Amino acid sequence: MSLIPIARAGELKPNEMKAFEADGKRLLLVFAQNTYFVVDEMCSHEDYSLALGCIKGKTIKCSLHGSHFDLSTGAALDDPADEPIGCYQVEEKDGMISVNLGQ
Ligand code: FES
Repeated sequence: MSLIPIARAGELKPNEMKAFEADGKRLLLVFAQNTYFVVDEMCSHEDYSLALGCIKGKTIKCSLHGSHFDLSTGAALDDPADEPIGCYQVEEKDGMISVNLGQ
């Protein structure tokens, strides 16, 4: 297991997100409904950044064609995307938010 620190707790306001790179992956940290999520930054439908989308509840909407993704499972909830995005385990400890990329 490798925990990679990515933000300070409190750095993001509700429904804010922050794109970052870790271990060669483009990822997105999202703070929604008082929970931190880390998902793939790029939409599974086309090569388009979800950082340009918007957050509603525990979902993120791709602003290019409108698919929503569940932030806790990565599941595509509607067309045209039919593949999930990756989602990763997040830990908060000692004022730091870290992601576990599982290596
Ligand atoms: S690029 Fe995201 S739904 Fe098409």
